[in-house]
Amino acid sequence: MSETLAIYGGTPAVDVTKVVNWPPVDKTDEKMVLDALYAQVQTYGKHNMAFGEEFAKWNGNQYALFTNSGTAALHMCLVGCGIGAGDHVLVTAYSWSSSATCILHHDAIPIFVDIDPETFLMDPDKIEEAITPRTKAIIVVQLHGLCNDMDKINAIARKHNLKVIEDACQAHGALYKGRKAGTLGDCAAFSFNQNKCLSCGEGGMFVTNDEEIYKGGAKLWSFGETARPDERRDYHAYALGWMYRNNELTAAFGRAQLSKYDFYFNTLRENGEYLLKNLAGTPDLLLPYEPEYATHNWYNFNLRIDFDKMHITDPEEQIAFRDAVAAALRDEGIRASVWQRFILPEMTVFAAKNAYGMGYPWSIPGADEGVDYSLEKFPNALAYSRKHISIVQTLRAPNGLDIAEQVRQGISKVFNNLDKIDPERIRKILEDRMK
Ligand SMILES: Cc1ncc(COP(=O)(O)O)c(C=O)c1O
Repeated sequence: MSETLAIYGGTPAVDVTKVVNWPPVDKTDEKMVLDALYAQVQTYGKHNMAFGEEFAKWNGNQYALFTNSGTAALHMCLVGCGIGAGDHVLVTAYSWSSSATCILHHDAIPIFVDIDPETFLMDPDKIEEAITPRTKAIIVVQLHGLCNDMDKINAIARKHNLKVIEDACQAHGALYKGRKAGTLGDCAAFSFNQNKCLSCGEGGMFVTNDEEIYKGGAKLWSFGETARPDERRDYHAYALGWMYRNNELTAAFGRAQLSKYDFYFNTLRENGEYLLKNLAGTPDLLLPYEPEYATHNWYNFNLRIDFDKMHITDPEEQIAFRDAVAAALRDEGIRASVWQRFILPEMTVFAAKNAYGMGYPWSIPGADEGVDYSLEKFPNALAYSRKHISIVQTLRAPNGLDIAEQVRQGISKVFNNLDKIDPERIRKILEDRMK
């Protein structure tokens, strides 16, 4: 293999013609989707019902409702848990925007908690200091497909009478002490968008074992009505509702993908473990950490550049160098990306408190008390946002160990040549390609 980096004209480490794109489709998907297509019922149909039931059975939940996004399912969780205007909800400082904007969707206030530098998840030891008299719930994001320390978090929640909502949007099949994500709190949300380990293009699942939470959350699903996917509608708004339903074609695609999920999960596990084992000792590369209690699903396989060891301390310099490394990895044929470059409190909707305009919902009397989004409170999240690179999709099934080995070679090649990473030169190369 050429040691010249592909971004400088060398041969890429990964033969991308051999990499199968995500999500893989076959006759199972075709048959199921065609069945939905010709059923002449495109909403409120059997595939919506069946996907909910099959997902609930597979994941170990009593109730599941298929939605049009993970964000919709998160909103349903909040309402199911009785969260309302001006309440405080704790959430990690580093995640997808809607892990926290879902709180604003019901006029409640996000309170951010810094992350643990090794797991990249909300630091359970920082939860208690973030609790205010208005705190009603904790959203635990099982980020990148890794579960947080749920025994610890559930004990804190019990002590302070808080509900626990799992944002399991990235955590299909991930385990905590052998139990599946989405069964570890009061209720949970999954996403099935394009990039997720279980994908049907777009979609989500609201799951719980609690009948009251289910009924409360489910009212949002279809205009405040209460009919399930297979029931006759009465067109009566019993509560404030949204339009969070999904359609039959998408449900059918989701069912077909779910039927293959255990293969997807096991393949990605093997590929992730292969990288962990075979990249150990690579210079200036920090590998992800899988705590003993957890089984990662490797939704994102996260690399970090060891800037301490490299003595690169300036944040701007770190970002420029990291972006150049990510570009070099991409040219090696690896789907490498910077998953989120902003931490949540940095995002304008929170920093400017401009959700609905006029400062609402922070302007609700008393709601802003104890709310502090100063960035210095989140040093671990900030540091992580500057040094990480996520490997996505290339490691997904049916791509197996042969592809994982090529990915390993690409990562080794780039990290063994970090002295040749010239951010300015790489920036110019990328710019020239755009011309
Ligand atoms: C952690 C997390 N939460 C929430 C979401 C929202 O899911 P969706 O895009 O289906 O609304 C996503 C994905 O986009 C996510 O990664």
